[in-house]
Amino acid sequence: MIDITDETVLRRYLKDRLLVPADEEPRIVDLKGGVSCQVLLVETRRESFVLKQACPKLRVQEDWFSDMTRVKIEQDALRYYQKVVPDLVPHFLFYDEENYLFAMEAAPAGARMWKDLLLRGSIDFSIALRIASALAKVHNAAAADQDAWRTFADQKIFIELRIDPYLRRTATRHPSLKKRIDREVERLLENRQTLVHGDYSPKNVLVADDRLFILDFEVAHIGDPSFDLAFLTNHFLLKAVKNKEWAPAYLALMQSTARAYLKEILFTQADRLEADTIRTLALLFLARVDGKSPAEYITDDADKGLIRTLSYQILGDGLSTFDQVATLACDALRAARAPSHDA
Ligand SMILES: Nc1ncnc2c1ncn2[C@@H]1O[C@H](COP(=O)(O)OP(=O)(O)O)[C@@H](O)[C@H]1O
Ligand SMILES: [Mg+2]
Repeated sequence: MIDITDETVLRRYLKDRLLVPADEEPRIVDLKGGVSCQVLLVETRRESFVLKQACPKLRVQEDWFSDMTRVKIEQDALRYYQKVVPDLVPHFLFYDEENYLFAMEAAPAGARMWKDLLLRGSIDFSIALRIASALAKVHNAAAADQDAWRTFADQKIFIELRIDPYLRRTATRHPSLKKRIDREVERLLENRQTLVHGDYSPKNVLVADDRLFILDFEVAHIGDPSFDLAFLTNHFLLKAVKNKEWAPAYLALMQSTARAYLKEILFTQADRLEADTIRTLALLFLARVDGKSPAEYITDDADKGLIRTLSYQILGDGLSTFDQVATLACDALRAARAPSHDA
């Protein structure tokens, strides 16, 4: 297996495969993928593309197999999305199984991470609606697709990267919620309805002038669709806590996103899916404070307390709609902004 972080090796690879003309030296930029993969941009005079490879570092064997499977799943899922929502993903270029890497079209240089736009207060409903509708289309398509069920049957990576660090870890910090969390985990794993992206977050959406690029499919699996909608809307809820003065806008974005998605769903009852999503959302919200991967922008202790209180309220009061969650959060965030009478 080649190591694409070794520039000499990479340049030879690109030329041997005729990906780059023999007489040209492309520009190579490290796009700083996560700990388990390399993401590199290759720019030639004619085109740009991105290579994503499982980390070629020495690991214990078990990790290694897991990483290798991830690349295979990721490119399979990118290709699935490309079939269903071709305008909303980078075009798939090729998969090199031997070298545990795949290539895709690069987003234009000016593309921005949707997460950064949201944090800066750029709250664009049309982006959210396109992202919600894409998710509904993929969920609808895969729910009726036996081939997808076979290709994405393995839930191991989802368990390793989502169920364990987010939900099970949170249960160890909140023993009173353990039974509830166990029940939700069981549902997320047992209710195998459709292709779940597993990392459907504003961090994995690039926004260019006239296009959106949904990325990062390594946690894709056949499971419960509520996970994706909860994972996405959790980011709007967290941003409402972070930027309280814009909370009504983030909460409206959450409601519109959910409404757009639920309106398009064909394979199950929308109100039941919404109620399931709210329970998952409450737990994921709490997990971004007390799970293994806390949101890096929630630093204030009062905000962490607020998130814990809201999660417990959503679960304890049995809220079942996004409108109820928005009302609860809006009141709590307004109160948190108001000058304290005790001061
Ligand atoms: N097709 C692409 N075009 C442009 N940038 C990309 C592309 N794919 C990934 N990137 C950049 O690389 C970063 C990491 O890629 P991603 O697939 O999300 O990997 P990770 O699994 O490490 O999060 C993205 O946040 C984005 O900035
Ligand atoms: Mg990513």
